Amino acid sequence: MCGIVGYTGTEAAKDILISGLKRLEYRGYDSAGVALERTSAHETVVDVIRRVGKVAGLESELANVDAEAACGIGHTRWATHGRPSTVNAHPHVSCDGRIAIVHNGIIENFAELRSELEGRGHTFASETDTEVFAHLIEEAYAREHDLLGALREACTHVVGAYGIAAVCADEPGVIAVARKDSPIIIGRGEHGSYVASDMIAVIDSTRDVVVLEDGQFARLTPEGISYTDAQGEPIEPPVTHVDWNIDMAEKAGYPDFMLKEICEQPRVVRDTLVGRMTGGELSIDELGLSLEELNLIDRVYVIACGTSYHAGLIAKNLIEMWARIPCEVEAASEFRYRDPIITPSTLVVAVSQSGETADTLAAIRDARIKGAKVFGITNVVGSPVARESDGVIYTKANKEIAVASTKSFIGQVVSLTLLALLLAQVKYRLTVGQVRMLFRELGDTAEQIQWIFETQKDAIHEAALACKDAHSALFVGRGMGAAIANEGALKLKEISYLHAEAYAAGEMKHGPIALIDPGFPVIAIATKSPVYDKTVSNLKECEARGAKIIVVATEGDEDIREIADHVIYIPRVRDAFCAITATVPLQLLAREVALMRGCDVDQPRNLAKSVTVE
Ligand code: AGP
Repeated sequence: MCGIVGYTGTEAAKDILISGLKRLEYRGYDSAGVALERTSAHETVVDVIRRVGKVAGLESELANVDAEAACGIGHTRWATHGRPSTVNAHPHVSCDGRIAIVHNGIIENFAELRSELEGRGHTFASETDTEVFAHLIEEAYAREHDLLGALREACTHVVGAYGIAAVCADEPGVIAVARKDSPIIIGRGEHGSYVASDMIAVIDSTRDVVVLEDGQFARLTPEGISYTDAQGEPIEPPVTHVDWNIDMAEKAGYPDFMLKEICEQPRVVRDTLVGRMTGGELSIDELGLSLEELNLIDRVYVIACGTSYHAGLIAKNLIEMWARIPCEVEAASEFRYRDPIITPSTLVVAVSQSGETADTLAAIRDARIKGAKVFGITNVVGSPVARESDGVIYTKANKEIAVASTKSFIGQVVSLTLLALLLAQVKYRLTVGQVRMLFRELGDTAEQIQWIFETQKDAIHEAALACKDAHSALFVGRGMGAAIANEGALKLKEISYLHAEAYAAGEMKHGPIALIDPGFPVIAIATKSPVYDKTVSNLKECEARGAKIIVVATEGDEDIREIADHVIYIPRVRDAFCAITATVPLQLLAREVALMRGCDVDQPRNLAKSVTVE
């Protein structure tokens, strides 16, 4: 969504803020700004500098600003209310310009608050919801003359989600922070105190952080940090040590984060499986459910959004095939509004790379109110999804920077495969020996992905050339291939802006085939499986109408060349695991097409890495 960073200490705040904002830019990048305290003679003022576009533009604007400021806050924005513009960029200020704030989240009652504030004489400069916070704090500060107290008071009027940081010219060196639903981490470094919406912004300066909880507040000064609850009572939140290193989150020599993260997928498979088969027994202790409780599960809902939803489609095939219990996959934004049928023996699995997605979080809360056990699968330690689930598996993909999810998807699919195997085992649908065999084959997918990198580069490049100028594309498959087709279509459209749709191959003749004209790209998953022949028949129907056929096929399948214009091979693998291997060529294809079309593969237009609004 948006990125927040703040610093108060003995170093130049400007450099620290810009460095942090660059690390946060993947969260949202349509504008950026900073507020820097400047003390001259006998008074302090707050300078606000904002720019439309990426952080680099703001950095050049700051080149002429003196680096003396030792306290400041910064923000990189993904617009929700108000178009991307300088006047809508954060920080926003009070009428007198002495209070500045940055905010990540959404204020649902901002229109009502704005009307009341304007009625009391406040003037607004922007179209944003955020600006009401600056004026609410200004009013409370006039009464309390305490920035943190004023922020607490302002929060009592706000309905919505916020991670917010505020500075005030009358309290030099102080940053007041509050959190509800939008992530905030706070830490002490050698040279001062730090606040950010994501660990990556401050990891160079501190690894021991407090993940602020909803309703908690913090006061940062160069000397230290104090915390209170919503009533102003002092609290001592636990400190979390973060052990991943920043070079794992940097490009490490790759041209872009997306390629780096695609290439990290073999490691993600291995890391996600580490410790899962101890003493010959499959173990997912984080589930928080006993084997008896697991055995009672008679329905599974997988709730998620986007790519995580597609991981759920793959889980459905596996859970129903192996455990023989119904599994429904729902877009989180739909699940919560349709009053789903939930009983104490329903397991709800929430899948979210960021662990912050508002739709998924809201669905989790609804499911828990209805009495379901909720199990989270996420890539971010301590994220809201992790904290609000009864149990959680971390996908061990390490930080995923590119907005398009790739390695986190593979981590999700591997984790969901483990869950399906465990459910099948506790329900005696699979023997321990079968589970061990499948677990080994699951681990083999790491090498199979590596084989694709080493042998299919040219085939993928040729296929990308064949569809880069198209206006639309269809992704088709049957069974697991149909689920994979969804992810392939999303990858292509979200980073190359080439429209793409996914269809079950058998559905083509019920309408979509009307789209096919000479040269129309049809991208098929036609790996060796029980539905291979049927899929080939569907492709022949497309070929007969002049379609350009691109196929992900099983290594050694030469017959497919009779109908395919381009073939991308993957190693022979059990159908249950082909989602892990067959998705990789589609990720690479989407990236190649996007690059050919001059798109930014790491930061596609209009998108953000975590969508913390509904
Ligand atoms: C996937 O490439 C997209 N970035 C998007 O669909 C994403 O999967 C979706 O917003 C869900 O995000 P989450 O996994 O962090 O909940």
